[in-house]
This record gives sequence, C-alpha cells and structure tokens, in this order.
Amino acid sequence: MSCTIIVGGFFGDEGKGKIVAHVAHKDKPSIISRGGVGPNAGHTVKVGEKEYGVRMIPSGFVFPDARLFIGTGVLVDPRVLKHEIESVEVDGRVFIDGRCSIIEEKHIERDRGDEHLSKTIGSTGTGCGPANVDRVQRVATQAKDVPELAPFIIDVAQELNDALDRNETVILEGTQGFGISLYYGTYPFVTSKDTSASQIAADNGVGPTRIDDVIVVFKAYPTRVGEGPFGTEMTKEESHALGIEEFGTVTHRERRIGCWDGKMARYSAMINGCTIGAITGIDNVDEACFGATEYSQLTEKALAFIRQAEEDIGVPIKLISTGPEITQIIDIR
Ligand code: IMP
Ligand code: MG
Repeated sequence: MSCTIIVGGFFGDEGKGKIVAHVAHKDKPSIISRGGVGPNAGHTVKVGEKEYGVRMIPSGFVFPDARLFIGTGVLVDPRVLKHEIESVEVDGRVFIDGRCSIIEEKHIERDRGDEHLSKTIGSTGTGCGPANVDRVQRVATQAKDVPELAPFIIDVAQELNDALDRNETVILEGTQGFGISLYYGTYPFVTSKDTSASQIAADNGVGPTRIDDVIVVFKAYPTRVGEGPFGTEMTKEESHALGIEEFGTVTHRERRIGCWDGKMARYSAMINGCTIGAITGIDNVDEACFGATEYSQLTEKALAFIRQAEEDIGVPIKLISTGPEITQIIDIR
C-alpha cells in the first residue's frame, strides 16, 4: 500500500537493481515502473547461478508477479527492448508509455560520432543524448507511432495512479546516479537528464504528494564510469589492493573507484528527499560481512562505517547489501 522510489545516490551502478529486486520480493508490488534516461543504464541482477543485465525493462523483472512499465520520460530503443523481452522471461508483463521518445540508429551514430559526447564526456554511445535533443527540438518519434511497439503501449501514468487509488504497492525505479544528473551532477560530465527522485516521479507521471518513501542507494566504495570529477577517487593500485575491480554493464569500461564521500552523500540525500538509506558493498568494507542476512552478524568495523554514513545522510540505513546475490541482504525496514 505504498509508492516507493528507488534511486542511486552517487554516480550510478550503486547496485540499485539488486535493491529493487529484493524490495519487490518483500513488498510485492503490483507494478514496477522505470524512470531515468534510457538504455544507457545497465542493471545487473544475479539470481542463483544466472546473471542478467537489463537496460530497458525494470530490473525488478525478477519478481514475477508485477507488471513492468517504462515511464513516459524514458527513451526507448525498440531493438534493445525486443532483445530483452526475448531473452528475459517477462512475456506479457512489459508495457511502455505511448509518449516515450524513440532512439533511432541516427541518434546512436550522432552520439558515437560526436567528439564532445564520445570523447570529452565519455558517453555510453547508446544515442540517449541526441535522442533527448530531438525531443527538446520537438522532432522525436514517439512510441505510439511505431507499429511494432503497438502491443506494449499503455498510458503508464494513468495505470500507476489507478493502482495507487486501489491501494496497491508500486515501485518507481530510477537509473543512473545523482552525480550524473544534468542539473545537480558534475556538469558538463553528466547524462542528458536529471536523475533525482523528483525526476523519476515526473518520468512516470506520479505527483510528488503520492510518494511515500524514497530509498537512496549508496555504494560503500562509489564508482564512476566515463570522464569527470570524482573527489574521492583512488588510484588503481589502491582499489586493487582492496580487492575491488568493476566493469560497466553497458560499455564494459573499467569503473573508477573511490572512497565514501560523506559530503556528496549528504547533498544527494537532501535533493532526493531520502527517507531510507541503502548501502551496497559492505563486504568490501569488511570481508567478514559477506553474505550476512542479520544485523547482528555485522562486525564492529562495518557498524562503524554504517553509523558514519547515517550521520552523513541524516536518515537511517535500513537496507544493507552484503553480496551480489538477491538473498545477501539485511533489511530492517
Ligand atoms: P550518456 O548518458 O550515454 O550520454 O553518458 C554521459 C555520462 O553518463 C557518461 O560519463 C556515462 O558513463 C554516464 N552514464 C550514463 N548512464 C550511466 C549509468 O547507468 N551508470 C553509470 N554511468 C552512466
Ligand atoms: Mg549500471
């Protein structure tokens, strides 16, 4: 009986996909709907031995009882969508808003061929920036005008608000991270849209008064892909010494790794209107916490880290991810 937004607090890739998957299994929403930019996002969800990477459909797809929506504000690449619908078992559950802008081959070519976007900013090359340009220019194609998408088209905003009227539980899933917000991030080294919780609500056509909780996901050791400032960045030697090495889901580029940034976490929690903090990768802080499912299993080192993070963000941390699998999590909500 609630509407919860889940967003990333740092530069993306905080492990939102895993948090969404867990929250969905626990809260049993009737709908999980995606906001955010488009297929530049990559969510990795690990279920047992299987690892899925999704870029268009909500990462909450692993919860089988929810309908899966793509909100009005999200850019849709029909080819990526088709591929995911075929390779992930979601038949009949995926719906997109008719007003979504479409990414075409020309947008991908413009993204990759543009020196500023591809080199200086280090874009993902998925056509998102140029497609948003076309929307602003009012020349973009909308999903409702693409015949092959006809079976999937609904009014996402109407469906979501109707579900909330019926007292159902809904999750609005963000993508990217606060630090690459077009407005609040490290401009110009950012993505092509705001990424904060308010934007995720707007992307889905759900008004701010209907949101009950905002879960902001922070990574114990934040990461960044692409160019741009990263205040707490470590050297490769330092991160490798900690045993941390990560690669992007979409671009396979090696992610830059940094230390916890309390100042950024505080600002991010403020702008997102965070009500519940989530932290991932606590097993990188203390290996002994790997796989823990109870708060009492956390070590003093991990607890000290969490206390500091709570002081920084100003709200309690109630979700603590202790490993890549969906079951490796502590939830004290
Ligand atoms: P674009 O969104 O493809 O235009 O890329 C702009 C910047 O945002 C680049 O530095 C990308 O690496 C970064 N970016 C875009 N989407 C994501 C994401 O989902 N996770 C992490 N970084 C992203
Ligand atoms: Mg990602």
